[in-house]
Amino acid sequence: MSIDGKIATRTGDSELSSRSDLRRVHKLRATHDAILVGINTVRIDDPLLNVRHVRGRDPVRIILDAAASLSTRSQIAVTSKKIKTILVASPRADKARIRRLEKLGINVITSAKKSGLKGLLAKLRGLGIRSILVEGGGATNWEFVRQNLVDEAIICIAPRLIGGAASSTLVDGAGFARVALSAKMRLCSCAKRSDELIVRYSKL
Ligand SMILES: NC(=O)c1ccc[n+]([C@@H]2O[C@H](COP(=O)([O-])OP(=O)(O)OC[C@H]3O[C@@H](n4cnc5c(N)ncnc54)[C@H](OP(=O)(O)O)[C@@H]3O)[C@@H](O)[C@H]2O)c1
Repeated sequence: MSIDGKIATRTGDSELSSRSDLRRVHKLRATHDAILVGINTVRIDDPLLNVRHVRGRDPVRIILDAAASLSTRSQIAVTSKKIKTILVASPRADKARIRRLEKLGINVITSAKKSGLKGLLAKLRGLGIRSILVEGGGATNWEFVRQNLVDEAIICIAPRLIGGAASSTLVDGAGFARVALSAKMRLCSCAKRSDELIVRYSKL
């Protein structure tokens, strides 16, 4: 994120990472069973979500996409025969859309948003996924924070001020109404790399 907590500009440009930070993120990816993002991030960034800046194995990719709207031309979709991909759709998602994605090699599982992320995490555990790197965007991060499911927050503060009330921030959604109710975390480490700061917080 930028110094002012933005993870993208108002137009959705999120290319904040330096080369060295990309290597750090990819190293981190390789140590997790899965990477998880929301569908807006896939729509806007069209990411690959693999490990390519360092050597390491690709984690499973998990996309939260209630309507099963993932484009069949997205980088995720076209590489899903090579890299294991799970799409989490609503039980009410269009069946034809689901079949189209399954044909590409995507494992579509269903989970109702209103039943919360804990149920989804239990299902994923059943599929052998025990650690998840949640990579955003702000709406997805908020749901994990709101449901008290964040063990650690590992954040690179990039030396930029982006601004914009409409720009995505690290944690969006409705937010907590009072500081007393917000998620409190403990600083575990802090490293300066050139003009960047990498901070690691854990759950209290
Ligand atoms: N700088 C960075 O490191 C970084 C990283 C990631 C993203 N980004 C930026 O973040 C922006 C996108 O963030 P965003 O907040 O708009 O979207 P997002 O978190 O990527 O996606 C949110 C969408 O995910 C779907 N979803 C399904 N189940 C969900 C659940 N249980 N909880 C939350 N979402 C669920 C919802 O759409 P449906 O209801 O249609 O399913 C929701 O609208 C982009 O500009 C991207 O570039 C930056």
